[in-house]
Amino acid sequence: MAREQKIAKTISGLRRSVARWRDAGETIALVPTMGALHAGHIALVRLARRRADRVVVSIFVNPAQFAPSEDFSTYPRTFDADVAQLAREKADLVWAPQSVAVMYPEGFATRIVPEGAATAGLEDRFRPDFFKGVATVVAKLFTQVMPDIAVFGQKDYQQLKVVTRMARDLDLPLKVIGAPTVRERDGLALSSRNVYLSAQERAQAPLLHRVLKLCAEKIAKGRPIATILSEGREAIERGGFALDYLEARHAETLVPVGSLKEGPIRLLVAARLGTTRLIDNVGVK
Ligand code: PAJ
Repeated sequence: MAREQKIAKTISGLRRSVARWRDAGETIALVPTMGALHAGHIALVRLARRRADRVVVSIFVNPAQFAPSEDFSTYPRTFDADVAQLAREKADLVWAPQSVAVMYPEGFATRIVPEGAATAGLEDRFRPDFFKGVATVVAKLFTQVMPDIAVFGQKDYQQLKVVTRMARDLDLPLKVIGAPTVRERDGLALSSRNVYLSAQERAQAPLLHRVLKLCAEKIAKGRPIATILSEGREAIERGGFALDYLEARHAETLVPVGSLKEGPIRLLVAARLGTTRLIDNVGVK
């Protein structure tokens, strides 16, 4: 059957397309995004393509996950370019609610409040309502599309753990798949927010990943984690960042770890360059 990319703007339109595929016995993958697509998003779409017969990409800048002080109104919106890119990638359907009210109609009163990884003291410490907003919109996207798989990036590692656990806790019959972080050649993780960086900040930004990698190597060699982290924190601050956190956590539960024996370790960082906040993470081998 010829593939033609569709755009659904209402829930009924979305359900019509998805139902047709389901009736034909096809499997469906969902890739949730807020648009302003870059090569990191596209890698998720390609992974989804390989794993399912049909690929739905949602584009919705979710107001519920932005604090009043954050960049909801200025978040980059490049819808036409996104749609063109997704057509080249042969995504079958773009799910783009035509207004915020499609997702959050007047009187909307139900919020998902995740615990566990969502209260690990990482992003949640600096963005207290962020994971409630993410979990609520992702739960809605999951039940709207009812995909067999959903693909998320490891770039947002805590988010990946939160939505994985949520799908399990709510008995949603889908598999959450985590995809590796796509980086610029100098190591900077791709992000829709990188466009905010000035030329000078862009030149400083790769330090974050360099420090992460160096810390991971030293920890893998058995050097004491607390010392490595405090050296890493200093290096990031010396590099001109305002540091929010640099932490070593259990890769699955995100609880703090003090030694290699305590399980697989993930190093996670968040730091600001001017007004731009960058996050990144790496595994310790
Ligand atoms: P957004 O920031 O648009 O990211 C959409 C997906 O792309 C997320 O799963 C994110 O982890 C992944 N991603 C972003 N940069 C990446 C990179 N450099 N490499 C690999 N994957 C990358 O995350 C969100 O939107 C929202 O919170 C959302 C889940 C859509 C809920 O609103």
